[in-house]
Amino acid sequence: MSEAAFRTEELTKTYGSGATAVHALRGTTLSLPRGEMTVLLGHSGSGKSTLLNILGGLDKASSGKAFFRDLELTAMSETRLTRYRREHVGFVFQFYNLVPSLTARENVALVTEIAGNPMKAEEALDRVGLGPRMDHFPAQLSGGEQQRVAIARAIAKRPNVLLCDEPTGALDSKTGVTVLEALTDINDEFGTTTVVITHNAEIQRIAHRVLFMADGKIVDEKSNEQRLKPSEVSW
Ligand SMILES: Nc1ncnc2c1ncn2[C@@H]1O[C@H](COP(=O)(O)OP(=O)(O)OP(=O)(O)O)[C@@H](O)[C@H]1O
Ligand SMILES: [Mg+2]
Repeated sequence: MSEAAFRTEELTKTYGSGATAVHALRGTTLSLPRGEMTVLLGHSGSGKSTLLNILGGLDKASSGKAFFRDLELTAMSETRLTRYRREHVGFVFQFYNLVPSLTARENVALVTEIAGNPMKAEEALDRVGLGPRMDHFPAQLSGGEQQRVAIARAIAKRPNVLLCDEPTGALDSKTGVTVLEALTDINDEFGTTTVVITHNAEIQRIAHRVLFMADGKIVDEKSNEQRLKPSEVSW
């Protein structure tokens, strides 16, 4: 059995073809151990979101291989990828994608209704510190609170992996800390393998592992012997 949560070999992704082709990934090889929090850094356009979307089964590679544990994602049909996403993956995006006409609790319940062994919506919201606000609508919550609802929604189905694309991108530093605390708490408590894309190099200090992307490849990698708490990081 593979010890890695994710592994890729020479992954490429080309959008379009001919003169307008964009080579978003140019041979990305990586291995992410189970249970770790990884921060993925790189300039705009370096391929971070493309990589995350392939790992999460939202997009397909052009060549190369990607595995989740022993499952080869790059060999799966759309139907199996959909099942993989549903069973194993939680996503958190920069803009929270909450349904405005539903309360926090109802937004989370949308997911728990279709999951196999979900937490109660109330429990998921408690985990991110929003128990007292669960009957509020998104418009009644701050940006950081809305993002924590989105995290509650992502974790309620008890995913093995949590993939976060600039989760603090729309937030100020103080609010961003509460979101990062929610992510580190979940990683600590459930051992959820977590990948966080960010533009803030400071945030790398909360991770077990840091990957640097440039031009569609992983160009550097390091492990943090000592991690900082989100409250110790500012940007
Ligand atoms: N659907 C698409 N069609 C064409 N090109 C695309 C598409 N999606 C991404 N690209 C291109 O692929 C490259 C990598 O994009 P990607 O979104 O992965 O970068 P990123 O590192 O996430 O950047 P950012 O930090 O700005 O979010 C970019 O040049 C981008 O323009
Ligand atoms: Mg991106």
